[in-house]
Amino acid sequence: MSRIDDLKSYQQLYQKSLKESEKYWKMVASDFDWFKKWEKVSSGDFHNLEIKWFEGGKTNMSMNCLDRHIKDPELANKNAVIFVPNDPSEQKKEFTYKQLYEQVCRFSNVLKNNGIKKGDVVCFYMGMTPELLIGILACTRVGAIHSVVFGGFSAKALSGRINDCQAKMIITHDGGLRGQKVVPLKDITDEAVKECPSVSKVLVSKRAHNQIQFNSKLDVWLEEEMQKADTKCDPEIMDSEAPLFILYTSGSTGKPKGLLHTTAGYMVNVAHTFDNVFQMEKDDIYWCTADIGWITGHSYLTYGPLLNGATTVMFEGVPTWPDAGRFWQIVDEIKVTHFYTAPTAIRALEAAGVEHVRKHKLDSLKVLGTVGEPINEEAWEWYNEEVGKKRCPIVDTWWQTETGAIMISPLAHITPLTPSCATHPLPGISPILVDQEGKEIEESVAEGNLCITRPWPSMARTIYGDHERYRQTYFSTYPGLYFTGDGAKRFQNGHYRITGRVDDVINVSGHRIGTAEVEDALDEHPKVYESAVVGYPHDIKGQGIYAYLICHKEIFDNKDKSETIEKLKKELDEIVIKMIGPIAKADKIQIVSELPKTRSGKIMRRILRKIAAQETDQLGDTSTLLNPEIVEELIQGRSD
Ligand code: WTA
Repeated sequence: MSRIDDLKSYQQLYQKSLKESEKYWKMVASDFDWFKKWEKVSSGDFHNLEIKWFEGGKTNMSMNCLDRHIKDPELANKNAVIFVPNDPSEQKKEFTYKQLYEQVCRFSNVLKNNGIKKGDVVCFYMGMTPELLIGILACTRVGAIHSVVFGGFSAKALSGRINDCQAKMIITHDGGLRGQKVVPLKDITDEAVKECPSVSKVLVSKRAHNQIQFNSKLDVWLEEEMQKADTKCDPEIMDSEAPLFILYTSGSTGKPKGLLHTTAGYMVNVAHTFDNVFQMEKDDIYWCTADIGWITGHSYLTYGPLLNGATTVMFEGVPTWPDAGRFWQIVDEIKVTHFYTAPTAIRALEAAGVEHVRKHKLDSLKVLGTVGEPINEEAWEWYNEEVGKKRCPIVDTWWQTETGAIMISPLAHITPLTPSCATHPLPGISPILVDQEGKEIEESVAEGNLCITRPWPSMARTIYGDHERYRQTYFSTYPGLYFTGDGAKRFQNGHYRITGRVDDVINVSGHRIGTAEVEDALDEHPKVYESAVVGYPHDIKGQGIYAYLICHKEIFDNKDKSETIEKLKKELDEIVIKMIGPIAKADKIQIVSELPKTRSGKIMRRILRKIAAQETDQLGDTSTLLNPEIVEELIQGRSD
């Protein structure tokens, strides 16, 4: 791989990646196996939105993750995946590259034997076990498009996603193991599938051994199919721009969006960023704690490490069971060198008490990473001192489901670090800051909305089935620019600090939640007439969910009674769990008589955010409100 190895070469290569973009990406892409080389490195722009990379090329993702490596006998016998089960007393499982290759081939044949063909969509709703990782690689091998739905989403959220992408098959577990809980994945799937006419088969993997309903018309046991299947399966020849996967994420408005990523650009960009950001050596062991249900689990648990021939750890459980030292115990036990997690996990483990981390040596660690939300300085320092023992650089990696790969990040051991700072852009990425009017802010020291000026290989190509929504969401706020939805500060040295979302997306424990989705769920309650949801600062989760509710008189009149609020809160939680999943439950609710509205009837969320955040001295101009008198009521009734 063409790796950057010092600051000077970063600067040179970064410049080259922008000035001689085609040459740069041609060099990077030459490291991969192609059935046929591309004809054109890149085409399309942010006006026509017909973005293509490595057009005319033919390749296959699983071939580049597996077949390419097992040609080398040493790599063939190296561990590709170390699986750490939920229960610490259960044996870990290791898969060498050769073994992973065989499993993926088997799974590919299972897909084919069960009617899956190139271009079909396969949905995964599973716990974090090797079957999930093997399954998605198998999809890429046969040219099927995977769509992984996080195992914490509800039946309704699952069926909505399946129907949107018209998945033909769903692959699930009997139950998922998370700490002491069994998540009834198959039951939830059964409920979802009732609403999904496109699904003709459900593959069920045995894991929790909980009671399930087996529906012989649809269901097939995965393990039985695996045993029957052959261990050889040639990879499909895929166009560079063939769809690779769909992944749903929340936006400011409407239902979740299915971001579509395509094959070659994603592959090249993800592999290259993994290599440069983490700077791994041959025998290092890498652990990303993300679930494969999110983009981090796609790009940097699965594809990034495997494309680089690295050893990737997959953990099934939760950080706090059997106790809050679980992560550190695993690090010591398997000698993890590179550890990548979310700030919310760091804050939760910090709050659990320093004794949990000090019990463990952690002397194998070389590099730490964070992703998913801004990391506050205190958490950064704690991570640096208590986990990294001040020896390990922290790579604060900024990127998004839409970007596919890391965009702004330090390179481990190379980039000078500032706490809470994502630092500099990676090759091919050209960030700028714009003001409210979309004018570029030229000063080096500045704060503004973060945009990207030109296409990069791993960017999502569209919203599945709705290209117009893709244009509207990302390219219409500032025509000709990709708008990230994030705000950022830039420093004298050109480094960036990401300050968080500037739109109506709430980042709860690193999970993106759209306010509109939560409002839709809350409005389902028969006694809730209108709701407005905003984020507010939360010590552990980063942001919490605060809901303002206009309710039936019976509730309003009793709003000062704790039993009224508790009962309503419980009922609302149940609705949210049913419509979305437990991650979207409101942390705080406040019953109000009205919401602050502009003269055109729009809710003024800025005011709601300030009140929820207890920043009432910064309310700004409220005189343009239709009902300015409501502000005082909202402040007085704030929920603590
Ligand atoms: C936020 C996760 C600050 C940001 C990979 C972005 C971050 C959203 C960072 C994307 C970071 C991600 N510093 N904020 N290092 N990384 N974010 O799609 O608001 O789940 O827009 O992708 O997370 O979340 P997503």
